[in-house]
Amino acid sequence: MSTMAAVRLAVFVATLLVCVAADDDPIIEVNSGKVAGRVVEFAHKDVEVKRTVHVFQGIPFAEPPVSGLRFRAPEPKSPWEGVRDAKELGNACMQPASPLIPIEEPKSEDCLYLNIFVPQTGDDKLPVMVWIHGGGFIIGSGGTGYNGTALAAIGDVIVVTINYRLGPFGYLSTGDGHVSGNYGFLDQVLALQWVQDNIAEFGGDAKKVTIFGESAGGISVEYLMLSPLTDGLFLRAIMESGTSTMPGFFISDKAKQSKIAHGLGKLVDCEKDTSEELIQCLRRASAEDLMEAGNLENGKLANVTGIADLLIPFSPVVDGNFLTAPPEDLIRDRSFPKRGTDILIGTMADEGMTFLIIFFLDNANDTEVFMNKTTYEAVSSTFLGSDKTSNPSVVDAVKLMYVNWEDADSEDADYVEALSQTYGDLYFVCPADLSARAHFQAGSKVYQYQMTHIPAESLFKMKWLKAGHGEDIPFVFGWHFDSAMNWTMPDDDVMMTLKIMKYWTNFAKTGNPNLFDGDVALSEDEKQTEWPLFKVPGLEYKDMSLKMETKRALKAKECAFWNDFIPKLMKHTDTAQTCSKETEDGKLKYKEEENRQP
Ligand SMILES: *[C@@H]1O[C@H](CO)[C@@H](O)[C@H](O)[C@H]1NC(C)=O
Ligand SMILES: *[C@@H]1O[C@H](CO)[C@@H](O)[C@H](O)[C@H]1NC(C)=O
Ligand SMILES: *[C@@H]1O[C@H](CO)[C@@H](O)[C@H](O)[C@H]1NC(C)=O
Ligand SMILES: *[C@@H]1O[C@H](CO)[C@@H](O)[C@H](O)[C@H]1NC(C)=O
Ligand SMILES: *[C@@H]1O[C@H](CO)[C@@H](O)[C@H](O)[C@H]1NC(C)=O
Repeated sequence: MSTMAAVRLAVFVATLLVCVAADDDPIIEVNSGKVAGRVVEFAHKDVEVKRTVHVFQGIPFAEPPVSGLRFRAPEPKSPWEGVRDAKELGNACMQPASPLIPIEEPKSEDCLYLNIFVPQTGDDKLPVMVWIHGGGFIIGSGGTGYNGTALAAIGDVIVVTINYRLGPFGYLSTGDGHVSGNYGFLDQVLALQWVQDNIAEFGGDAKKVTIFGESAGGISVEYLMLSPLTDGLFLRAIMESGTSTMPGFFISDKAKQSKIAHGLGKLVDCEKDTSEELIQCLRRASAEDLMEAGNLENGKLANVTGIADLLIPFSPVVDGNFLTAPPEDLIRDRSFPKRGTDILIGTMADEGMTFLIIFFLDNANDTEVFMNKTTYEAVSSTFLGSDKTSNPSVVDAVKLMYVNWEDADSEDADYVEALSQTYGDLYFVCPADLSARAHFQAGSKVYQYQMTHIPAESLFKMKWLKAGHGEDIPFVFGWHFDSAMNWTMPDDDVMMTLKIMKYWTNFAKTGNPNLFDGDVALSEDEKQTEWPLFKVPGLEYKDMSLKMETKRALKAKECAFWNDFIPKLMKHTDTAQTCSKETEDGKLKYKEEENRQP
């Protein structure tokens, strides 16, 4: 049945039941009941496309994960009667306030909702792109900032955005199996299952699902690829500035998990001897109290646990269900499910600038910031992580790699750049390099990019951040075309957003960012900007700048440094390691670097 026929039939049936919806509201029947969305007419002076888009917001895909369902896998939504309004965003998940990128929706533990943007093209087998938001597993939602209307209209794809549980609600674990953790990931899995079960009713092709995400969303995308629970849920994957081996976003130490869980308990009057008692008590605590107790900014959790470098206390863990081994082991050993997922993966040229915000809060209006040698020496290891800062050889090696030695005798060498590149490579670029190589070697088609284009307006409202972390988001979602965003771009940025939306949606359609479909020949203009596959050897990638040049070997030396040399150096210079503790069959095992956050 065509989409239109389905809509008409649904409208007819719905009229017989209840009449909450206006006559021309699109109504769709999903497996738990009917939803009424609204019609948005997309048009903008800077793009030829005019499209009607049916927008459905706040569709529940799970039972509210409250009281007895808190700290448990989500359960599918039970059916409702009549037609449910789907014209407003559902609640965002519990999270602390984030002044730099505020969330507009109300926050509640009852937050497992998704939003769907359906371009009316007459095609009832549209590719589907499911967006997983970032925010360090602490903040964010599928709502604010991720209006999929422009991407759906311009790219002719269905866009779905989802919420998942955050902080202690999504990622608490007791380390002993009582509360196994990863509930935020299980929410993502259930949302993807919901898409499989229902997207055909919206005119989507369940066999052509691309998952995409930025930062913790990109990390989630790769975790979903590593999980045994996601077979058949997606075909393609886009990771923007986030991969599973990013330092600081995984806790392997079960004792530490337990310490954090019991520490949280102490803060909400749940000081207990056993995990069982602890969890019973935590299930009765108020959501606000739990959120506040888990909020790092107030320092209480660090205080009660005595763990100083506690930046993402509620992180992904090995739960034996969603995840069977540490992500770095799975990636390095290529021992993840090899499903031939097509992959588009990349980072920003100035990711590490984000770490420097704390040093330059007063410089929001400056286009450049400076740091002298003295300050650099004092702060250079702030975010290296305790395993590295405790090892002087590592700290020296990092300086050797990143300081500009030609000017190192001057107080004024570019130390901001040295720090930015250090942290950008350590946290983003080189973990992505590890992933690109691993997926290529596991038989996936891989396309790699780095965005060097500096946006006219900064997401974080700091002009000196350049092509910083997160600055790709307005381009991927086409904020320029959304009047509600008030985000007008100059012509160069408009060209960039159109090109990026084209690459992303082409990829969702064909697995190739260059082609709308296999038969369409490239125009001369398009050949100029054709994006080749990433291969080893070869290492070709797309430099996302106005020229859209193809380059090769992105940070190859720096990534050999972080991914090969530093782990070896740490092994050879680990004074705590005696000869008898030599790692099994000479194979290097890498310490997970814990609890650090950009
Ligand atoms: C941390 O604990 C110490 C000692 O108990 C106390 O003095 C301090 O106020 C606590 N800090 C916070 C932020 O709770
Ligand atoms: C930046 O400029 C704006 C507008 O002139 C001003 O309101 C704001 O206080 C400035 N911010 C800083 C950190 O100087
Ligand atoms: C380096 O910069 C810091 C902070 O701006 C300043 O306090 C210090 O005096 C400077 N040191 C030198 C040697 O220039
Ligand atoms: C989403 O964007 C479209 C245009 O791209 C706009 O018409 C619509 O009002 C926006 N919706 C929301 C909820 O901001
Ligand atoms: C839109 O942005 C401009 C420039 O940043 C600002 O002057 C204006 O007040 C904003 N309008 C709204 C409605 O937020």
